[in-house]
Amino acid sequence: MTPHAAPVNTVVVFHSGYGHTERMASAVAEGARAVLVAIDSEGNIPADAWETLAGADAILFGSPTYMGGPSWQFKKFADASSKVWFEGGWRNKIFGGFTNSASINGDKLNTLEYFFLLAGQHGGIWVSMDIKPANVKASMRDDLNRMGAYIGPMAQTPADASPEEMSPGDLETARRHGMRVATIAGQFRSGTPRGN
Ligand SMILES: Cc1cc2nc3c(=O)[nH]c(=O)nc-3n(C[C@H](O)[C@H](O)[C@H](O)COP(=O)(O)O)c2cc1C
Repeated sequence: MTPHAAPVNTVVVFHSGYGHTERMASAVAEGARAVLVAIDSEGNIPADAWETLAGADAILFGSPTYMGGPSWQFKKFADASSKVWFEGGWRNKIFGGFTNSASINGDKLNTLEYFFLLAGQHGGIWVSMDIKPANVKASMRDDLNRMGAYIGPMAQTPADASPEEMSPGDLETARRHGMRVATIAGQFRSGTPRGN
């Protein structure tokens, strides 16, 4: 066994009002081999989930885009993380984020930019996406990165579609990004000191 062979601890912390972002979170977690932490309808996570997050090498934030940003439940979680911020508990962790909404654009970028800023406030290291956009005439709904995002995966689910009807391409994009974040977390853990 090499010194760097211990598994990477990755946590996906997400809110989902109606199950669509939850399905996306599961795809990210599958790729990252991550633990899922759900933010409930009151904006809370289980008390022991804060310890799970403290032990993570990488954290991925997920929320639907509601009214052009993350849900208030996610924001409540983010505000609660200020306790961790005081102690610098998430400094030098690896971060990523993802979102899902009904419109093709839907102002999803604002949600992902918020996640990026939250990671930055915690002194984290953001992992952008490395999947070429599907933006030619032959591009299809189920292609990888059909939203053409680089900051993180975006899924688009029509307002009248169930979670089961989500685009397989969006879910595969999410899965691959989860894998990328976990891989990079493993690389950093073997080379980056946590102490300063
Ligand atoms: C309160 C609310 C606000 C929403 N705002 C937006 C929005 O700004 N942009 C958008 O594209 N879709 C918006 N939607 C649609 C949701 O993003 C979409 O239905 C999404 O799939 C819900 O994910 P969930 O099942 O994880 O909650 C909104 C939905 C709700 C309930």
